[in-house]
Amino acid sequence: MNVSNLTFIGESPAFRDVMRSIHQMAHCDATVLIQGETGTGKEMAARYLHYRSKRCNGPFLPVNCGAIPDALLESELFGHVRGAFTDAKDHRQGLVEQAAGGTLFLDELETITLRAQVVLLRFLQDHEYRPVGGFGLKKGDVRVIGASNTDLAQLAARGDFRQDLFFRLNVLVLKLPALRSRGDDVVLLAERFIDRYSREYCLPPRKLFPEEVTALRTHSWPGNVRELENVILRKLLLTEGHMGIMGTPTSSPAACHQSNDAALTHKPFHEAKALAVSNFEKAYITELLARTSGNVSLAARLCGKERSRLTKLIKKHGLQREYFLGTLADS
Ligand SMILES: Nc1ncnc2c1ncn2[C@@H]1O[C@H](COP(=O)(O)OP(=O)(O)OP(=O)(O)O)[C@@H](O)[C@H]1O
Ligand SMILES: [Mg+2]
Repeated sequence: MNVSNLTFIGESPAFRDVMRSIHQMAHCDATVLIQGETGTGKEMAARYLHYRSKRCNGPFLPVNCGAIPDALLESELFGHVRGAFTDAKDHRQGLVEQAAGGTLFLDELETITLRAQVVLLRFLQDHEYRPVGGFGLKKGDVRVIGASNTDLAQLAARGDFRQDLFFRLNVLVLKLPALRSRGDDVVLLAERFIDRYSREYCLPPRKLFPEEVTALRTHSWPGNVRELENVILRKLLLTEGHMGIMGTPTSSPAACHQSNDAALTHKPFHEAKALAVSNFEKAYITELLARTSGNVSLAARLCGKERSRLTKLIKKHGLQREYFLGTLADS
């Protein structure tokens, strides 16, 4: 992936401010903290910043801090030498070394324990670290971008996040605005998602009706851009013809999540049923793969299907599991 693959969309003043800050921050190598509600595009902003920086030819390595058990954080970040602990059969490179020359994106910073915060603080001070069980100090050649959907200042004030770590992170801060405060970006984004997914899934082109535009503008979008993207994709896959993305004029986006395809009754029952089942399968699996970031084994477990049967359905509907991978390796 490179910056040309990233379509970070928005034209509102609030979004333009973000883009301006990203371009300024791309010129230096300091640690950045990205804050914003869930789904506002924190990871996308981090990638964009990386690919605009002088580290653009190095890796961009996203790390979900919440998914790493406390006791393992240090060895995950800094690696370990053989015999460092019972399971350390071999020397293992840490994430800092894997991201050398590039950017380490530490997501969900609010989830790390106070103990793990000490480890991170030490590293951020001078980028020096010691692999677990090793003696020599190493220098990490990474830029750190951290992200959180919780206000870290508040957590620090309550004593749930170390003040010193917060101050170390709080030098360059990028605040991503909620979608509801981005004016007509919601319409712009909806149109771009419609275009993109219609092409990707070979669906007929569609346009937004005026009442749908109103519905988009009035919904509060607690899940922000991710919620919008999911609503559009689901609607494109579940409806047929020119029914419109957000359902009938009276329905709200929330209602659309469950709305049925009115065009179905224009077909014989068996045809309509086959179509509804097929649409349901595709939408269900799409959502499941999105939820599990493309992890088919986990998806199979969650929906109570055998992995092989789920794989067949994924193929049948031409879905590409790679598309759903949350942490695609960059090349
Ligand atoms: N400005 C944007 N233009 C296009 N797509 C966007 C934009 N912002 C977010 N997205 C899309 O919305 C989804 C969520 O974005 P992202 O994962 O970056 O959000 P996040 O803030 O990291 O969410 P979370 O807090 O849940 O981790 C992604 O599919 C991303 O591609
Ligand atoms: Mg994220």
